[in-house]
Amino acid sequence: MYLGIDLGTSGAKLLVIDEVQHVQAEATARVPDLLRPAPLSEQNPAAWIAAVEEALAQIARDHPGLLAQVRGVGLSGHMHGAVLLDAKDRVLRPCIMWNDGRSSRECSELSKAADFEGIGGNLVMAGFTAPKLAWVARHEPEIFARTARVLLPKDYLRLWLTGDHVAEMSDAAGTLWMDVAARRWSPELLAATGLTEAQMPRLVEGTDVSGTLRPDICARWGFAPGTVVAGGAGDNAAAACGMGIVEDGAFLSLGTSGVVFAPSDQFRPNTRQGVHAFCHAVPGHWHQMGVILAAASCLDWLAGILGRPVPDMLALAEGHEGPSPVRFLPYLTGVRTPHNDPTAQASLHGMTSRTSAPDLVLAVLEGVGFALADCLDALREGGTTITEAYAVGGGSRSQLWLQIIADICGVTLLIPERGEYGAAFGAARLGQAAALGYDPARFGRPAVSRRVTPDAARHEAYAAAHAEWRALYRPG
Ligand code: XUL
Repeated sequence: MYLGIDLGTSGAKLLVIDEVQHVQAEATARVPDLLRPAPLSEQNPAAWIAAVEEALAQIARDHPGLLAQVRGVGLSGHMHGAVLLDAKDRVLRPCIMWNDGRSSRECSELSKAADFEGIGGNLVMAGFTAPKLAWVARHEPEIFARTARVLLPKDYLRLWLTGDHVAEMSDAAGTLWMDVAARRWSPELLAATGLTEAQMPRLVEGTDVSGTLRPDICARWGFAPGTVVAGGAGDNAAAACGMGIVEDGAFLSLGTSGVVFAPSDQFRPNTRQGVHAFCHAVPGHWHQMGVILAAASCLDWLAGILGRPVPDMLALAEGHEGPSPVRFLPYLTGVRTPHNDPTAQASLHGMTSRTSAPDLVLAVLEGVGFALADCLDALREGGTTITEAYAVGGGSRSQLWLQIIADICGVTLLIPERGEYGAAFGAARLGQAAALGYDPARFGRPAVSRRVTPDAARHEAYAAAHAEWRALYRPG
């Protein structure tokens, strides 16, 4: 058996798979956000451990003896968060999360202080870890001075599980302190943030053994002594491992945030348009990502303010042919790709006294589609052309939305058959790779239940609307 642990923004998900990767057990537990006014976003690392303990307790209760059969554990988690520890590994302040936009000023200062684009291959963006540390240095100097170690969220779970300070390439690339092409920490980029390599965890590949479970963890949950913990992956790379998107392929995720992800066997940065160029979780591979910060959350927002559930909103738009006369810029929480603008704002344009509720819903669905098309364009400029992508995430349950996105982007969307292929599943696969050795054959693709193909005439109509939509953006 292999255990995957995915630390998501709203909760932990644990999955146990057997030798042939059939799911044997599953458990989830919620993690609360600390209430902070936007653009701040913080969580308590102790709450992550509590959530994993709760989920482990569920598995131990519902499947007695199963955890004793686990041979490898894999970790996945939300990326970019800054967990600051003192010399005794005590947490110095709440984790500043991936969706926290407080560090714009530090971003422009850091970009001038060192060659982050040249060495790191990425723009200094507010969600990433380095500018968060620069913010702490400025606003909480006594905490910065006591920071003995900086860990990413899932690597803090690893510290609890194994007692070791270890990070792996895919998540570590999102700190901005790596020479991503060479897969190592960059002393120069660390120095620009007032840090040294001594404050960083040791780096391993996602498929490597990073350590073994601590004896007290084994005793408490019934794991076998010496159970190995894999390097694991940041949540997007872990999801890619879950879908077998390791050497090629692509996925498009319509979750809270929107992601377009494609792997390659070369490092392919495009900093001009805010492409994330990170290591993949398997050796010798990298990946490119376009990220928008609000995707399915845009529809949740509209449903919330109109006081109607999301399925009702989708039903309203059903049967209404796009493009909507209204245009929606989906930058409710800023945007990374292509504008790198944490203060960008959302807006609705083109309303008249005849504007209807379906026009608005359609505008929101299309606005997210246009923003994802911008991500695909940014990836294409960096040398990665996507014609087919698996569609995943909560928003992908809407056939209407998928068709709109396929039409706008001119990309065929592949709908996986029901089953497990997310980040927790990818983490479990990495746990298996660490225990048995990495074998690409164990990273297969989910069967496709449906293909959503773009309609050529609607793609044309949307191209004109996309150009109009693009002209509406004003830097925040
Ligand atoms: C990726 C990113 C998000 C988080 C959310 O760069 O910020 O996808 O990993 O979980």
